[in-house]
Amino acid sequence: MWNYIFISGIILLVSLLYHYNVSKPLSIIQYPEDRYDYIVVGAGTAGCVMASRLSELPNKSVLLIEAGGYFNWLSNIPLAAPLMQGTSVDWTYKTESQYYASRGFVNHQASWPRGKGLGGSGQMNFLLHSFGKIDDYKKWPSGWTYHNLKPYFDKVSRIMGVPGTPVEGELTKIFTGIDVSGIGGNITIEKAENTIKRGKRFSSYQAYLQPAWNRKNLHILPDTLVVKILFEDDKKTVEGIKVKLQDGTLGTIAANDEVILCAGAVNTPHLMMVSGVGPFEELKQNRIPVIKAIPEVGKNLFDHLNIPMYVSLKIPVSITLRKMQSLAEIMKYLVFESGLLATNGVVGTASRGDSGFILFGVGSQDEKLLNVSNYDTQVFRAVFPSYNSPAQEGVLVLANCLQPQSRGNITLNTYTILDPPRIDPAYLEDSRDIRCTQDAINLVLDIIETLDFRKLGPEVHIPDINDCRYHQQDYRDENYSECIMRYSGVTGYHPGGTCRMGDDKKAVVDRRLRVNGIRKLRIVDASILPNPISGTPNSVIIAIAEKAADVILNVPLKTVK
Ligand SMILES: Cc1cc2nc3c(=O)[nH]c(=O)nc-3n(C[C@H](O)[C@H](O)[C@H](O)COP(=O)(O)OP(=O)(O)OC[C@H]3O[C@@H](n4cnc5c(N)ncnc54)[C@H](O)[C@@H]3O)c2cc1C
Ligand SMILES: *[C@@H]1O[C@H](CO)[C@@H](O)[C@H](O)[C@H]1NC(C)=O
Ligand SMILES: *[C@@H]1O[C@H](CO)[C@@H](O)[C@H](O)[C@H]1NC(C)=O
Ligand SMILES: *[C@@H]1O[C@H](CO)[C@@H](O)[C@H](O)[C@H]1NC(C)=O
Ligand SMILES: *[C@@H]1O[C@H](CO)[C@@H](O)[C@H](O)[C@H]1NC(C)=O
Ligand SMILES: *[C@@H]1O[C@H](CO)[C@@H](O)[C@H](O)[C@H]1NC(C)=O
Repeated sequence: MWNYIFISGIILLVSLLYHYNVSKPLSIIQYPEDRYDYIVVGAGTAGCVMASRLSELPNKSVLLIEAGGYFNWLSNIPLAAPLMQGTSVDWTYKTESQYYASRGFVNHQASWPRGKGLGGSGQMNFLLHSFGKIDDYKKWPSGWTYHNLKPYFDKVSRIMGVPGTPVEGELTKIFTGIDVSGIGGNITIEKAENTIKRGKRFSSYQAYLQPAWNRKNLHILPDTLVVKILFEDDKKTVEGIKVKLQDGTLGTIAANDEVILCAGAVNTPHLMMVSGVGPFEELKQNRIPVIKAIPEVGKNLFDHLNIPMYVSLKIPVSITLRKMQSLAEIMKYLVFESGLLATNGVVGTASRGDSGFILFGVGSQDEKLLNVSNYDTQVFRAVFPSYNSPAQEGVLVLANCLQPQSRGNITLNTYTILDPPRIDPAYLEDSRDIRCTQDAINLVLDIIETLDFRKLGPEVHIPDINDCRYHQQDYRDENYSECIMRYSGVTGYHPGGTCRMGDDKKAVVDRRLRVNGIRKLRIVDASILPNPISGTPNSVIIAIAEKAADVILNVPLKTVK
């Protein structure tokens, strides 16, 4: 991404200093005890919150188990987030070969990075903060309206240090100041909000787990894979879990109160199914003894699909590879915790109805992105023309449908957690998503064509993709834009929905997040989302975990501060 050797040297130095100054947390252990009151599976965005909140009760013992270890120190640098992908802290999943989309990817399979280590996906994400729109919560169960969640949103904003950062940077000023009155109204343009503190990543790992990890009643077990949920003979009550410890041996741990799954939208349904809780046919086919047939486990999978649109600029307002790797920027970062490296590069977002985009103020892309995303080389080069021009000024616009209707699923390849599950997001299967994404692309063009944006000298790059040549080479042409989205659309990294929460009997978890028909088992992570968040989900998941902790600890709503 930049001059690796140089920056690595500096970072090694800084991280040595850092490690000398931070002693090992008391809660980190290698071998667990036989039983705990609460067992939290997965130290990701939600798991860090759960472990922290539950261990506030001094007389309750809490175990947090995480399949991975520590993230590299680099993960703290906001702009370095993509460097985590494809490494040992990534589960490196790939989707099933897609039919309606991902055609510009090798074998039509898209990479699906997921964080593996303390902090989970929250430790490798792009740090964008949002709580979506009020309407997102319309179909959620009682007690979970936007209004009900508002006290938690306020709390999370405060803890994550979000509000009130001033508009900085030329590009942000221009973008947020665009006069859209000439293009039909109903457009919302917002400055990007993110969870960055003093130039460093501030995820639920830093905000919740670190302040708690010297508590005597909290144990954290890294590098340990939960392989199964164990049930009592009645097949209704969870007894504990089976784990594969650091040294490769298997062990069991009992839960007095309950097991809380926070393994994420892919791994939570996977763990449920290999433990015998899921669609009857799916379990039978893989010879898994059925504990409880729940047809919707693994269903309702959604994700955002981002259409990358490259726009070159004539004015030097963007982040380029050359600027990023300049000595001045590196020193600015290391000494003053500021500058380009201290940002996530996102300028802002815009939306009109259910169509929107993210404006990424980075002018040149690294070819490394090609390797980790699984793009076909030709398509990658057609879509990202500046991959080889480190000084090119420009922006990358990610157009997307905020509430996609397509629903895919997580199913099994085999009976064991040791083999990855099948991931089929079914991108663009529902034709409404094509219309909605076209509207997003048109919104991008509308905004670029405003007088204010035109001052930057923008030129929209039109990807030349073999199979799209038969259409007019113009994003406004519906056939061309449909063709492009089927080729270049890339994951928005926001999978969810695979253990849906609902008031209805078919839902996987109830409004208290308890798995229906099973005692002592709860799910708290992206899998419980009934539908996508119109924006980015990470802060919503933190708020869900906050509320879940209050539900478990019986804290009445009016005392949420
Ligand atoms: C590259 C990328 C960029 C993103 N950008 C943004 C963004 O800018 N803004 C935003 O809001 N969202 C973003 N997201 C999405 C957001 O980070 C996720 O939605 C969120 O982190 C999900 O939280 P979670 O608690 O459900 O799961 P995770 O954070 O994924 O946590 C699951 C944890 O469980 C562990 N685990 C899984 N299975 C087991 C097992 N069997 N045993 C033990 N441990 C296990 C995993 O290793 C992981 O640590 C991004 C995600 C990615 C990957
Ligand atoms: C545990 O602590 C809580 C709050 O500190 C208290 O209300 C409760 O009575 C205690 N329970 C036991 C068994 O000590
Ligand atoms: C704005 O949205 C509303 C409702 O979605 C619609 O009725 C109205 O026509 C829109 N206005 C414009 C100017 O597009
Ligand atoms: C991409 O992958 C290829 C083959 O695995 C490798 O040779 C190449 O160096 C990689 N490129 C980058 C930029 O990482
Ligand atoms: C999973 O989703 C795909 C794509 O929509 C569909 O073809 C398949 O039948 C689904 N499988 C199950 C078991 O629901
Ligand atoms: C798009 O394709 C359809 C079907 O092939 C055709 O009827 C239509 O005229 C095309 N639209 C444009 C704008 O070219």
